[in-house]
Amino acid sequence: MNNIVKFLQERRSITAKKMEAGEVLAEHLENIIKCGLRVPDHGALSPWKITIVKGESRKKFGEQVLLPEFLKAQENPNPSLAELEKSRFSRASVVLIVMSTPPRGVKIPTWEMHLSAGAVCQNLLLAAQSYSYAAQWLTEWYSYSENVISALGGDPTKDKIAGCIYIGTKLTEPTERKRPLYDESVSELEL
Ligand SMILES: Cc1cc2nc3c(=O)[nH]c(=O)nc-3n(C[C@H](O)[C@H](O)[C@H](O)COP(=O)(O)O)c2cc1C
Repeated sequence: MNNIVKFLQERRSITAKKMEAGEVLAEHLENIIKCGLRVPDHGALSPWKITIVKGESRKKFGEQVLLPEFLKAQENPNPSLAELEKSRFSRASVVLIVMSTPPRGVKIPTWEMHLSAGAVCQNLLLAAQSYSYAAQWLTEWYSYSENVISALGGDPTKDKIAGCIYIGTKLTEPTERKRPLYDESVSELEL
């Protein structure tokens, strides 16, 4: 088995809850993002955008964008949950928000552009994990908030957050989770 196949068969995500922010080296971050940009993309439209959230912006995003949105939906907000919203992005050292931004009026099906945005997320995740960072692909509630999409410069009438890739430091090595059984998910077409 070659090294890449071995890595792909063994890699695991580490949940944002279980990671420590730590440090992501600037050189690594740039390389991770370059991997994210190199994905299959029908029509070469680059129908996605990556927003880097790191440093002070993690807390500011929580305070200025997530918390107000969270509070709008709560009649009696629980103070500890409100605190969690403020520090949500601070669970990681860097969060890469991938927005699918399909242009209107092109022949390529929108579904395929969203799939390409998913490929960006997966490449970012794999590249981060290949450097042994803790990484997880999350959407959580805020990815479905129109105001959050707008705050990130997106158009909520057509753009979608495909994922937020949390990247931090491992506290422990992950244990394996339940994986699909090959024969239950795979079959060969027999005509
Ligand atoms: C599009 C997408 C969104 C996800 N959003 C969440 C989420 O909001 N909360 C969550 O606990 N896991 C979410 N996950 C699942 C985790 O990223 C991941 O599948 C899980 O931690 C196990 O990952 P592994 O197979 O890479 O080890 C999401 C996965 C995908 C593909």
